[in-house]
Amino acid sequence: MVLLKRFAALLATTLPFAHSVSVKSTANWNITNDPEGSVHLNGLAFQQNPLSTLGDYQYVAFYSTSPKGYGHHYVNLGRRRVTPSIGDWQSFAFTDYEQTTLDEHNTISMGISGDGKIHLSFDHHDVPLNYRVSTTGVAKTIPAQWTQSAFGGSVQHSLPGSTGPWTPLTYPRFERLANGDMLMEFRIGQSGAGDSYIHRYSAASGQWSAVGKYLQGQDNNAYINGITSQDGKLYASWTVRETPDASTNHDFYFAFSEDDGKTWKASSGATVAKPITPSTAGIKVYTLPQGSEIINQEAQCADSKGRFHALMRDKSSGTATFYHYMRTSAGVFSKTAITVPDLSKPPYLSYRGKLASSGDTLIAILPDAPKSTVTIWGATAGGNFQDWKNLATIPNMAGEPLVDYERLKNGVLSIFVRQGGPFGTRKVQVWEFTLQF
Ligand SMILES: *[C@@H]1O[C@H](CO)[C@@H](O)[C@H](O)[C@H]1NC(C)=O
Repeated sequence: MVLLKRFAALLATTLPFAHSVSVKSTANWNITNDPEGSVHLNGLAFQQNPLSTLGDYQYVAFYSTSPKGYGHHYVNLGRRRVTPSIGDWQSFAFTDYEQTTLDEHNTISMGISGDGKIHLSFDHHDVPLNYRVSTTGVAKTIPAQWTQSAFGGSVQHSLPGSTGPWTPLTYPRFERLANGDMLMEFRIGQSGAGDSYIHRYSAASGQWSAVGKYLQGQDNNAYINGITSQDGKLYASWTVRETPDASTNHDFYFAFSEDDGKTWKASSGATVAKPITPSTAGIKVYTLPQGSEIINQEAQCADSKGRFHALMRDKSSGTATFYHYMRTSAGVFSKTAITVPDLSKPPYLSYRGKLASSGDTLIAILPDAPKSTVTIWGATAGGNFQDWKNLATIPNMAGEPLVDYERLKNGVLSIFVRQGGPFGTRKVQVWEFTLQF
């Protein structure tokens, strides 16, 4: 018996195992006609998140053109049952708030706290906070009717119970914590001169409180890849920009928190002073000078094995390349080019991708801008996350894909995408891939 066990262990470490992730089935749904015009308001990489699941229901937040036509949009919220079987989408528009700024910053972010309240924040580019929340836990005690009445009052410009600043605000993000509380993160300031703040929603009290400023610019600003809570740790990674010009992005930074953003540590585990600045010792992990064509706000995730992953691209090798950054549970960072056949090198400022994980499998959702596709790749810990295998390709794409991280916990990769093509035919869609590991 002992011998057999040893033999099995040996096999597991030395044999080149067949790749262990594949797509069992796929389906897609049209959510809406994407708004008219050349500006993207749906499907930008910094939306955290437009698509999320709590319990048996999935929710999607999107803009559609209002009856007034070009340049007039409503925030919409859709829902459908996903467990035990897939139901039809139902959605409504918030008709008391018209979005009219044709600016790709002004996207929608949605968070669902453990008490079933749905929080929405939208339409910002250096303006006061816009926030609205359902009156009751509509994602937990599911109402038969799906209408704006679930949200009662109007748009608020502060978080009830917490203290500002609330302007000039951009890039709201929500992240649910394991106990059902939720964090909200955003930038106050401007491109090239801004700070990042965290607030916490208590599911028990229904009130917000300020966790504080955790990143501070030095006449520059951090552009985070995301804020990710996993197994009691909160992770952030970012690049820093000196001016509104994206070519001034430089370097790769990382920090984590073991108390949901109150205090922070560098990758080494050493506690750092808050707020973290670009010159905080131990925070910069990789040096990449300005002009390296790093793109801000690409992607990150953490896995259930204590690893942190980020996706960014740069041209440090002479050719623009997607890179997988990884920090092991022991705190060791690596940066490896994602070299896969049939994936175009990302043109400068082209659509950004996403990363997601399930156990020992890492999934990269990478736009192939020259081919107008979104391609999905899987890599495994057993293959040192370099055994990238194409799992699927979505045609006619012109936007940045976003992932439902909650639904992936049930083995379904559900993604929010924007099609290419003219207004009227161009849809916002949800695509799903049931994965087999
Ligand atoms: C989405 O819309 C397009 C264009 O109207 C249509 O051809 C397609 O069948 C729709 N897809 C689904 C899944 O309904």
